[in-house]
Amino acid sequence: MQHYMFRWEFGGDYLAPVRPRAVLDVACGTGRWAIDVARRFPQATVVGFDINRELIERALSEPGLPGNCTFVVADALQPFAFADGSFDFVMADSHPAVAQRGRRDGPRHERWGMGRAA
Ligand SMILES: C[S@@+](CC[C@H](N)C(=O)[O-])C[C@H]1O[C@@H](n2cnc3c(N)ncnc32)[C@H](O)[C@@H]1O
Repeated sequence: MQHYMFRWEFGGDYLAPVRPRAVLDVACGTGRWAIDVARRFPQATVVGFDINRELIERALSEPGLPGNCTFVVADALQPFAFADGSFDFVMADSHPAVAQRGRRDGPRHERWGMGRAA
């Protein structure tokens, strides 16, 4: 839902001029944003995670889920299972866990499994 509010407000799913290879959607909720981005960038791998197992199971059973998009249950406040530098585009919007982790870890993007923007 918020994904569509942001799209309406900003006129797109993201503002950065990117052509990503590996995308991470932190606390992806329903997974709508991840699915839309996977369709837009079929060459990219898109992973969404959320702490809510029910939302993840629903996202995984979404009809027409693109083959380059997957979802896992994970907690943004715990160490990630992804190796450093696994992603070159990370979406993290609209939830307190992100702000909390940002305050704790500061700009240490490596801890989020991020690489530099493409
Ligand atoms: C407001 S929704 C935003 C969903 C999506 N990012 C969007 O913009 O539509 C917040 C999401 O954060 C998830 N969440 C809250 N705490 C979390 C945590 N510690 N780790 C992972 N996900 C978390 C919730 O389950 C919920 O799906």
